[in-house]
Amino acid sequence: MKLPAKVKLVEVGPRDGLQNEKQPVPAAIKIELVHRLQDAGLNNIEVTSFVSPKWVPQMADNLEVMAGIRRQPGVCYSVLTPNLQGLEASLASKPDEIVVFGSASESFSQRNINCSIAESIERFRPVVEAALARGIHVRGAMSCTVGCPYEGDIAPERVELLARLMKGIGVQHVGVADTIGVGTPLKVQRALEATLRHFGIDDISGHFHDTYGQALANTLASLEMGVWQFDTSVAGLGGCPYARGATGNVATEDVVYLLHGMDIETGIDLDKLIDAGQFISDFLGRKSGSRAATALLNKRAA
Ligand code: HMG
Ligand code: MG
Repeated sequence: MKLPAKVKLVEVGPRDGLQNEKQPVPAAIKIELVHRLQDAGLNNIEVTSFVSPKWVPQMADNLEVMAGIRRQPGVCYSVLTPNLQGLEASLASKPDEIVVFGSASESFSQRNINCSIAESIERFRPVVEAALARGIHVRGAMSCTVGCPYEGDIAPERVELLARLMKGIGVQHVGVADTIGVGTPLKVQRALEATLRHFGIDDISGHFHDTYGQALANTLASLEMGVWQFDTSVAGLGGCPYARGATGNVATEDVVYLLHGMDIETGIDLDKLIDAGQFISDFLGRKSGSRAATALLNKRAA
């Protein structure tokens, strides 16, 4: 077993984490969160999405948030763009990376982006082309690679098909998402193997929601395959509005604790990260979803 020596974390708290929040989170809070995350050493931050404000009202302040960030050199700021309208709207904010998001499940594709998988690829095609022409990196998120809230188990063949379609339109990197957190290590490894038929190990990442408490185990199972990039969410915030009942991504603090405990480098200052998590949890008026942050905060208080 050869584990990676270094891991890259993409912090998705400001986007995946907050998109599902019912209470409006002011742009100033989102900006402050991004600042705290970059100060903690997160070099990749998924900031917001350029989607319909009718579908996801929480992300309607996308331009204001992007404009308010004090950009740090070396940090990659990414945004979600489901169609050309989203990409065009995002360009003023100069994203370093855009994310098109598709699904291995037909029903989830319909519910989340209002079109079939095949239609979504045709929508993404010009988005990818326009982004690449401007030198913007293109990532693809692949939802429901293990299970779907509407269809149940998803076969690896469906994941392989989506990965092939994403590759075919020029997507540079794909995230293998367990949208509803039902995956267990062997199932997640099968979804990763299916993706690896079309993308190299350096061009895939894991995106694990933690609904069933499996996300850390799934992260370890991915590391064992050599996967070294993961999306995580500070304080374990998040969920997708179109995947009811699904909780947040695996907490960034928990993944950092796991990695540092295995002598795997992340470049992240765990104490500062915990403070960032506490900042947003205090604003939302709830306890952090991170077990490691809770334990370390209790220790600090003692
Ligand atoms: P649609 O209704 O099919 O789009 O929505 P349309 O092209 O027919 O346009 C209808 C209206 O939406 C028009 O406005 C457009 O202007 C507007 P109206 O004339 O009715 O006033 N519109 C837009 N407005 C702003 N930005 C845009 C945009 N596009 C159209 N880009 C659409 C299609 C994709 C827009 C819609 O379904 C949508 O916004 N879905 C967003 C869903 C979403 O954000 N989900 C959460 C993110 S994905 C996720 O969390 C999963 C992930 O974390 C991985 C994982 O865990 O699985 C990434
Ligand atoms: Mg997600």
